[in-house]
Amino acid sequence: MKNWEVILSVAGEGGGIQLCGQKRDDGTWSFARYINELTFDDAGPIDAHSHVVHTWEEALELIESYPWTQLSPQEVHPEFRLHIWKEAESSGSRLDQWRDICKISDIELLTDWIASSRYMVVLTGAGMSTESGVPDFRSQKGLWTKYDPFAVSHIDMLEKDYPAFHEFYSYRMCELKKVQPNDGHKILSRWQKEGIVKFLATQNVENLHQHAGSTDVAQLHGGLETVQCHSCGSPASTDSFIERESCAACGGNLRPNITLFGEMLPQDIWNRTFEEIAKSDLLLIIGTSLQVSPVNQLPKEAGGKVVVLNLDETPFDQDFDLVIRGKAGDVLRQAERQLTASKK
Ligand code: APR
Repeated sequence: MKNWEVILSVAGEGGGIQLCGQKRDDGTWSFARYINELTFDDAGPIDAHSHVVHTWEEALELIESYPWTQLSPQEVHPEFRLHIWKEAESSGSRLDQWRDICKISDIELLTDWIASSRYMVVLTGAGMSTESGVPDFRSQKGLWTKYDPFAVSHIDMLEKDYPAFHEFYSYRMCELKKVQPNDGHKILSRWQKEGIVKFLATQNVENLHQHAGSTDVAQLHGGLETVQCHSCGSPASTDSFIERESCAACGGNLRPNITLFGEMLPQDIWNRTFEEIAKSDLLLIIGTSLQVSPVNQLPKEAGGKVVVLNLDETPFDQDFDLVIRGKAGDVLRQAERQLTASKK
């Protein structure tokens, strides 16, 4: 087949199959199948060369009667690597080999899974907000490298050392008033509006998902934007907490509505998140070290594929279908670009 290009070449013990292509001046392709060692069916030798076809769908028909996805991939044409990956992926055979030879990047795989998901759920942690200037907790410059979490964020300390508790959280509230959602928050908000993200749960308490436009956000660890009396539960304003006022109803200590160490998570929010993750066919976990229970137990309840996008390793990486080491904003921007391009 002179001046034909190899589109796909696979090999097996009994011989190999090639799908070849010829690019026409107008950029469209003709295809033909070539069997590079004579094979036989009950009518005798199978014709080495097939007839020529002119669409990708017909090209796939030329090879569909052979178990090509189960054979060893030898060569894939760069212009057809995504088409061939889609076919190989749906077969479920030799996925690592096909992903390697089709040169499918982590972001292409993530985008492919997002595009084909029916129920995508997202779970975020503090790494979602570091690009907004909000320090996370356990990275090298995280808050817990400067403060002892059990000295400022444990229920016992609220009751035994209210001044230290108040100083830490009034400082955090004032700092968080200065920050804005980043691209990652905004992309997740757009994906929720487009129906791509069906449910968003976060461990974060600074409400940047909501400020980016996300709705119905499951705040597993509560939020700093509402305050109540620790004694009688009466609501109060964040300003009255920052000013260190006492509860107007009972004179008790005010506190933000967050889950402190030693406290139970809000049961209704936990239950709903558990159910949504169990229902998901794709769970995307972004920016969390998965060091804190019980949230770090949620990924194993996922109903389908689990992807983690995190700068550092997590203790559960080996259990996930895809681990992407990268910055949330960068990866989500690239994924959104690819999703948009794939719709054209
Ligand atoms: N992109 C991706 N990942 C990032 C980024 C980023 N831009 N910035 C930081 N990360 C990663 C870090 O590598 C780290 O592993 O985010 C993770 C954040 O982990 P933690 O600081 O432990 O925060 P988180 O997992 O949300 O903590 C859970 O612990 O202290 C409690 O209540 C607090 O909700 C918090 C919980």
